[in-house]
Amino acid sequence: MPKQKNIGNVHCGTAVGKVLSVHLQKVNHSSIFVLTDTNTRRHCLPKFLSEVTFESEPVVLEMPAGEHHKNIDSCVKIWSELSEKNADRNSLLINLGGGVVTDLGGFVASTFKRGIDFINIPTSLLAMVDAAVGGKTGVDLGSLKNQVGVINHPSLVLLDPGYLQTLPEAHLRSGQAEMLKHGIIASEVYFDRTLEFDINKPEAEELIWESVLIKDRVVKQDPLEKGLRKILNYGHTLGHAIESHALRHNPDNPLLHGEAIAIGMILATYISSEMLGFPKKSLDKITAGILAIFKKQLFSKTHIKEISDLLIYDKKSSRGKVYFVLLNDFADHKINCEVPDSLISEAFSYYSSHS
Ligand code: GLY
Repeated sequence: MPKQKNIGNVHCGTAVGKVLSVHLQKVNHSSIFVLTDTNTRRHCLPKFLSEVTFESEPVVLEMPAGEHHKNIDSCVKIWSELSEKNADRNSLLINLGGGVVTDLGGFVASTFKRGIDFINIPTSLLAMVDAAVGGKTGVDLGSLKNQVGVINHPSLVLLDPGYLQTLPEAHLRSGQAEMLKHGIIASEVYFDRTLEFDINKPEAEELIWESVLIKDRVVKQDPLEKGLRKILNYGHTLGHAIESHALRHNPDNPLLHGEAIAIGMILATYISSEMLGFPKKSLDKITAGILAIFKKQLFSKTHIKEISDLLIYDKKSSRGKVYFVLLNDFADHKINCEVPDSLISEAFSYYSSHS
């Protein structure tokens, strides 16, 4: 078997198909379902089926691709299909796809018959470095992100960067945003290296794996997000509001998650510099680095007001107050920070004034 990396139940390398085949032989599931979306059924399922040995043919399920299908209606369809196809409590659901498939599939599995076994095989960079790892599952409520869900861990997470060969550039950038976030919250050296991330370079797999290790260290210390794990939401308070706003206003061409989070990280870092003295030089480096990768977005005054109004739906809000994760410096965080509205507007002005 080629060299594999693993930590706990997360495995990475080109031989994850073999890891899964061995696992399936050990655990005798009554039936196996593979959840795909329209894209992964076409681009990833053939590779998956050619690399895994099954005792009996798995049943392939398909949902439409896209964030706007990450909702309870899609869950109802999949729960019904599982039921019609006689899935029972010993069935297994394998989620083969990006963050929408792994989040939604994990939620479907966690709730069907009060919970069946599931495995994540992330096929997007974002899902590999973030969504598929750490046990968060769930769906959106209207345009509001991840409002319904549970934390429940898959029995395996299998990362094969080979799946990224067919991933569009914009989706690679979207995943790169979460890797940059891991750099900002944990290691400036990793941030600098990740600015140069290129899936065709030999170090790509190393960088992906380092992101998984950073996330794993945080999740292990605070699996239920009572405190420390909130740092994984760096840039997400405003980022999610920007993403929800784009989804509401432009449902056919919304911002990708990472595109919104990249903006959210510039805003959060500006706020950090004003409130906690995050070094200006590092703020400029983060802003310039992100803007070299992600296209600048325009925000009118009305948009900024609408985005600010969405902040209350952030999962860290409590008793009507919104709390941010901010930074004193790279890898030096402060959670539960209250931020005045005026500073949020100033942060948007800072973002807009950069070219
Ligand atoms: N995506 C942030 C977390 O898993 O906590």
